[in-house]
Amino acid sequence: MLRIRQNYKDMSVHKNIKKVTTHVLQEMKLRQEKIAMLTAYDYSTARILEAAGIDIVLVGDSASNVMAGHSTTLPITLNEMIYHAASVVRAVQRALVVVDLPFGTYQGNSKEALASAIRIMKETGAHAIKLEGGSEIKESIERILSAGIPVMGHLGLTPQSIYKFGTFVVRAKEEEEAKKLISDAHLLEDIGCFGIVLEKIPATLGKTVAEELRIPLIGIGAGQYVDGQVLVLHDMLGINQEFSPRFLRRYHNLYQEIYGAIQTYIKDVKSRDFPNEREQY
Ligand code: KIV
Repeated sequence: MLRIRQNYKDMSVHKNIKKVTTHVLQEMKLRQEKIAMLTAYDYSTARILEAAGIDIVLVGDSASNVMAGHSTTLPITLNEMIYHAASVVRAVQRALVVVDLPFGTYQGNSKEALASAIRIMKETGAHAIKLEGGSEIKESIERILSAGIPVMGHLGLTPQSIYKFGTFVVRAKEEEEAKKLISDAHLLEDIGCFGIVLEKIPATLGKTVAEELRIPLIGIGAGQYVDGQVLVLHDMLGINQEFSPRFLRRYHNLYQEIYGAIQTYIKDVKSRDFPNEREQY
């Protein structure tokens, strides 16, 4: 395991941090330790994820929905992803930071794919990139990998292709699509991806893929047999209340908490309760 020495501005001693690397993730799969992954798009929340001990922070293109209010992930730009990713990286010492390549920056042109991946690595300090698809984007993945950039795949429901699917229903229920997914998963492993996100597929298919592959499979709606789980932070914290698919477990009702706090603040300001004597100079 890689150990780094980290200088803390406010400490005079060095502190050893056992960093999560792609190699560590592989070891976790081997010893059947589940991998925990969540999204973050900004410094302050990434700091909490890191302090809580998350293994992988995903700067997902779901920022397009969650941060910017778009109805799909398609509009977010490379510059916007770089802004989010650089903010997250500043907060993280231990976790592996993976950044989504946004729609239109890697499909169909492997040179552009490499240029996009290099921008992410150089301008954010992230550790890996993720992109959606299988055999169709093989050349792009290979070119990125050839530059020494770790790549995570994403199969099943791939939100950047939502207009092709036409719906957010469970993918690969039929044999033909399931076979293609299994073959794509093997392809991604063979060409050198270090892991794959499997989104919204039957649990039995998730199990098959996780058993057949050596690299870790991280599920979101892919059942309990895969090697780890990922959720969108805003969904699992209950900030985003409209989205409630079966695979989502809500750990908090943060929308209500924030709403209540803001209402109290408004009341305090209007009633001249805030600020009081102790809160002024
Ligand atoms: O963009 C994202 O948040 C993702 C997860 C849903 C896996 O890709």
